[in-house]
Amino acid sequence: MADKVVLAYSGGLDTSVAVKWLKEKYNLDVIALNVNVGSERDLAAVRQKALDIGAVKALVEDARELFVNYFIFPALQADALYEGQYPLATALARPLMAKLLVGTAIKEGASAVAHGCTGKGNDQVRFDVSVAALAPDLKIIAPAREWGMTREETIKYAQKHNIPIPITVSSPYSIDANLWGRSIECGVLEDPWVEPPADVFSWTRSPVDAPDKPGYVEIGFEQGIPVSLDGKKMDGVSLIQRLNELAGEHGVGRIDHVENRLVGIKSREIYEAPAATVLLQTHQALEAMTLSKEQLRFKQKVAIEYADLIYNGLWFSSLHQDLAAYVESTQSYVTGTVRLKLFKGSCQVVGRKSPKSLYSHGLATYDKGDQFDQSASAGFIHIWGLPLKTQAQVQGVTEPKKTKGKGK
Ligand code: ARG
Repeated sequence: MADKVVLAYSGGLDTSVAVKWLKEKYNLDVIALNVNVGSERDLAAVRQKALDIGAVKALVEDARELFVNYFIFPALQADALYEGQYPLATALARPLMAKLLVGTAIKEGASAVAHGCTGKGNDQVRFDVSVAALAPDLKIIAPAREWGMTREETIKYAQKHNIPIPITVSSPYSIDANLWGRSIECGVLEDPWVEPPADVFSWTRSPVDAPDKPGYVEIGFEQGIPVSLDGKKMDGVSLIQRLNELAGEHGVGRIDHVENRLVGIKSREIYEAPAATVLLQTHQALEAMTLSKEQLRFKQKVAIEYADLIYNGLWFSSLHQDLAAYVESTQSYVTGTVRLKLFKGSCQVVGRKSPKSLYSHGLATYDKGDQFDQSASAGFIHIWGLPLKTQAQVQGVTEPKKTKGKGK
């Protein structure tokens, strides 16, 4: 009996060809595993296709809830945004897929797992590193990294073996999509000077064609987790789906990013992430109101580290475990509601409230009811400015070169 391999199967060209190739090249029986993280494909058809091509078994796993609760929401609580732009949709799904691949391999007695990543991207790293951490003895095969075929040759191989070629192959783009966003690269997008053509987008309306009237939405958070939309309680998956529609309709969530890949190259990627854009912005607005200045400052540093480790494939690392504990601890009072205005591609926070707000009207107001003791400021400023005054007296006034001698 042939050894078995569990292949992360999307139904696309590369993973379809991989089903045949793994048998031909390594004589492995292929178990195709499709992990549903919200790609919105016809999963029954995907499953059947794997079997038609020759997989001995084809499994579909609905992982949307796992994805939202254990990957997306913790990343949201951390405010993870790679290089300040990319909400990490693709990157977040990989460690989950790796985990399910490993679980299936153990259950099915397979000696290897396989994925369809090329040798140029970040995703191969995320899969390989995650699998190695979870099951060090499992073999990892990356057919598209090994076979050395161009896209044309891959299509020829598919034709030769009667593998149906997906309609998406006629699209010049490489696309990956899940609940947290859609990633689009290749084709004309490889020229960073070229504005993304209209056919790149499918989740967001062009801001030009978006409604002329602004849309408002209220998002309720409990301990940093979004739990309601316009006052209605919603589970995470439905809330994200609904927000993708709502914000997408207003043209919100288009991102054009020249990013630094882990493998040392810069690449230009377009993202559509309406729900992620809205949730990251509203979550931060609520944090601004419920965390102290020092917590906010420190948390911003953690957010950069957190985003980097997700991007770089280090989900199953001790550093992640440590940072996650910190992030969770910061979220105790991040509870409340944020009101957002969506209009022609922009989204703006226009209101926020929280039972644990640190904003005190009595302290902030310039009207009557002011509780701030203004007379105390003089003493505070005296002490605050003391080192500056002393240094200026002893060493002279220091100021940046450019302004020196000006204004006298
Ligand atoms: N650049 C993104 C990342 O590394 C997305 C990669 C997948 N993109 C794609 N169009 N297939 O996470």
